[in-house]
Order: sequence, then C-alpha cells, then structure tokens
Amino acid sequence: MFQANTLSGDKADQYAQLLEQARGLMHGERDRTANAANLSSLVFHALPDLNWVGFYFFDGTELVVGPFQGHPACVRIALGRGVCGTAAVTRQTQRIADVDAFPGHIPCDSASRSELVVPLYRGDQLLGVFDLDSPVLDRFDADDQRGLEAVANAFIESLGDA
Ligand code: SME
Repeated sequence: MFQANTLSGDKADQYAQLLEQARGLMHGERDRTANAANLSSLVFHALPDLNWVGFYFFDGTELVVGPFQGHPACVRIALGRGVCGTAAVTRQTQRIADVDAFPGHIPCDSASRSELVVPLYRGDQLLGVFDLDSPVLDRFDADDQRGLEAVANAFIESLGDA
C-alpha cells in the first residue's frame, strides 16, 4: 500500500519529496480518473492550509469537475470564465492572492481566499486544469507555483500519449 511520508526540509525539499511521492503513486498507471483522484488526495493531505484540491477536465466544450478533495464544487465552467477558465484559455498558471479581487472569480466554497490553477496541456491539446483553493489569503508563492506545476506535469506524463 502506498504510504505518504510527512514532508520535511525547506520548501524546495518538500516539493521534491511531494513530486517523488506523486510519481510513485502514479507509477505504471495511465488511468486519468485514478491518477487525478489519488493526486488530489496526496496533495490535499500533504500541504497545509488547503480547502479544495482537484481537477476539472475539458470535455470538448467546457470544463467539467473531476476527482477532488474538499466540499462539493461547481460542475461546469465555461472557457474564459473564473480562475479555472482563465487558466485554460491563457495557458498560464493563475496565482490569485485574493480571490475577491479577481473579476469573475467563481466562488464554489465560501471559505476560499486564495487560489492557484495550473492549466493542463499536452502539446496544444487542453486536458483540463489542476485547481487548489486555500482559506488563507496569499497562500501560494512562486515556490508553490513551481512545485505544483511540476506535480501537474507528472500527472500529464502519467497519461502517456493516449
Ligand atoms: N474558483 C474557481 C472555481 C472552481 S472552485 O474553486 C473549486 C474559479 O473561479 O474558476
């Protein structure tokens, strides 16, 4: 059985450990739902001050909620809408220090104060987004962004070419 260890050391060390755990968890498995579900759980439990961690997948028209940890969330998000839809169309990670200051933010959990959304692309193909919410203002810094982008990348790689 997979056992996640507590992260230790400085932030860079911790994200290196998280990435290693993520890779271990997905090793030999290509199923998108399985890997997204386990990754959501891993990250939700490994990092402090998070109230929602999960995936939205692109269905060819809009983003549809996938595996996650946290309270029930909005099911469908149009491209270009909210933090998630913005990450999807700009192809840029959205690191939002204060969600109330983001025009068009879609509040799914009223506890959320800051948010990080990593777009998931395989080449030019939009797969979806990886979304993290925090009840703490300005929870995510550039190190968190780098670390979580690496985890998101490992997820994309786990799917292979299919
Ligand atoms: N806040 C997001 C919606 C998804 S939830 O945070 C889970 C947004 O503005 O796109």
